[in-house]
Amino acid sequence: MNEQINELKKEALDSLASVANRAELDAWRVRYLGKKSRLQAILKSLSSLPVEQRKTIGAETNRLKNELENLLKEKEAAFEEASSRAQSSRDALDVTLPGRPSTLGRLHPVTRVLQELQEIFASMGFEVVEGPEVEWDYYNFEALNIPKEHPARDSMQTFWVEAPSGDDDREMLLRTHTSPMQIRVMEKQEPPLRIIVPGRVFRYEATDATHIPMFHQVEGLAVDKGITMADLKGTLYEFSRRFFGPERRVRFRCDFFPFVEPGVEMAVECAVCKGKGCRLCGQSGWIEILGAGMVHPRVLEAGGIDPQVYSGFAFGMGIERIPLLRYSIDDIRLFYSSDLRFLRQF
Ligand code: DAH
Repeated sequence: MNEQINELKKEALDSLASVANRAELDAWRVRYLGKKSRLQAILKSLSSLPVEQRKTIGAETNRLKNELENLLKEKEAAFEEASSRAQSSRDALDVTLPGRPSTLGRLHPVTRVLQELQEIFASMGFEVVEGPEVEWDYYNFEALNIPKEHPARDSMQTFWVEAPSGDDDREMLLRTHTSPMQIRVMEKQEPPLRIIVPGRVFRYEATDATHIPMFHQVEGLAVDKGITMADLKGTLYEFSRRFFGPERRVRFRCDFFPFVEPGVEMAVECAVCKGKGCRLCGQSGWIEILGAGMVHPRVLEAGGIDPQVYSGFAFGMGIERIPLLRYSIDDIRLFYSSDLRFLRQF
């Protein structure tokens, strides 16, 4: 009888080892633990055995039964876990789910305005050039007809920087405007020339809602034979039509800049009050957006161009003011505070 039990155990264990799925496990359970299993038969036959044998064989058989039942539970648990793992990895890879949108960045409002301006002027034949942000006093002031002691220097609070050694007699600064590129371009290129210069400029100013020490400008320069004030106005009118829309009125008034003669300031009608006067335009109905004029003969000369033969016009505009006005933003510092709550609005 003992032998029979051992054989049964060996067979059941061998058979269990080759069970590969739930259906096979179920068949195994019926076969070795079911009502018609040999184990049950042995248990039933116990009553016909003598008392002594009944005790030992009974205990033996029950032990086997428990062992097989435990193995069955273990195997069931293993299948359970494998299938739930498979389920969750299927979930993680559910290709039928709609994709998660990835967070897209966007362009800074100042960058967008710069790009728009470049497109407009490029379509009018202007080439885009860039220049150094650290500049010589000569290009930033001297060559633009702003000699030392000229009061125009006072309007441009300057960050001076130390010149490289060996250049002690030349003064260096962070450019206060993009105008120095007028000279650099004229030195290198023969007329006819038409350029715009987008870039950063720096002024040593106390920061407040309308002043920051770093901002952007776009400079424009056109030099050719026979260029007149009409070309200047025509170009800037066209720019305004394209940028601000055809319905916005444009105003030119006399102004002074040492590097142009005559000099003008251009303003566009205030978008908020349509010229009536409001807080945004300081009750004037107009918003100044740029300075311009006919290039001063001394400036042409400084660029190596003969003012008897050639003439030109130039203009320079501040960039931050444009989105400031367009979106009625009341503090210029917001542009550079890197606050995403602000930037995400554009
Ligand atoms: N550079 C001047 C400024 O920063 C702006 C300007 C005025 C530029 C008149 C020009 C110009 O080219 O013709 O205030």
